[in-house]
Amino acid sequence: MTLTVKDLSVTYETASGRKVLAVADVNITVQVGEFVSLIGPSGCGKSTVLHCMGGMLRPSAGSVAVGGEEIRDPRPERAAFIFQDYSLFPWKSVVDNAAIGLRFAGMPKAERRARALKELELVGLGHVADSYPAELSGGMQQRVAISRALAMEPEILLMDEPFGALDEQSRRRLGIEMSRVLTDTGKTVVMVTHSLDEAIFWADRVLVMGKGPGRIIEELVVPEPRPRRPEFMTDRRFDALRAKLFSLLEVSPAEEPVAVRSAG
Ligand SMILES: Nc1ncnc2c1ncn2[C@@H]1O[C@H](COP(=O)(O)OP(=O)(O)OP(=O)(O)O)[C@@H](O)[C@H]1O
Ligand SMILES: [Mg+2]
Repeated sequence: MTLTVKDLSVTYETASGRKVLAVADVNITVQVGEFVSLIGPSGCGKSTVLHCMGGMLRPSAGSVAVGGEEIRDPRPERAAFIFQDYSLFPWKSVVDNAAIGLRFAGMPKAERRARALKELELVGLGHVADSYPAELSGGMQQRVAISRALAMEPEILLMDEPFGALDEQSRRRLGIEMSRVLTDTGKTVVMVTHSLDEAIFWADRVLVMGKGPGRIIEELVVPEPRPRRPEFMTDRRFDALRAKLFSLLEVSPAEEPVAVRSAG
């Protein structure tokens, strides 16, 4: 179902009682099966928008809806969230970690184990199902977190800098792999990233956010069928999109220099 963000504004109140308008008048429509990436300077409100999409944060004004139904609370079977820090339970096995959402949803043990195993196979982790998170590399742990989200069979996947903690090579390899899985399963995805390459490589559309308060300043369409071959990253069309995105982030209407944490 279509994800619609309409005239979204969020005002935070700080501990000292000061009000901060974090995002203002954000409008986003994500079609079924579409992959949209969200990029912008630190503090511009990307996570804020994503949290509203996941129902973890209530808009101060405007609305977020899935298939016309307004989102008011988190429901992982509708929109599952993947955090940057994996948030796995170290004392639980890989398969139990992947099944944790299903457990909270009340699914019987044998059934949730079978479903979690299926998702782990999909991301190439079937062979470590009975290992523990500490025995896995960062990239593998992140794939467990992705399996856990996919096991809920959500229509929508929300990812906040999912590969932020990984080295360049791992995030590239995992990115290519995940891109295939997500395309095959036809998920609707919104991903926040600081990497220009990632933003372009994964997405059908890149939304660029500007600061002060956060809003969408530009939309870039990536006219290349998914899943994409790694060679797309060395293609001239990719370079052109990257240069465009780079200039947008350089000359953001915000009147302060824009910090792009990871340009590669
Ligand atoms: N709980 C909060 N209370 C007060 N202000 C907040 C709170 N959460 C976020 N903010 C402010 O809202 C703005 C947007 O924050 P947000 O975390 O959405 O940015 P971001 O784009 O995700 O940044 P980053 O790239 O660093 O993760 C920032 O100015 C931040 O200081
Ligand atoms: Mg953030």
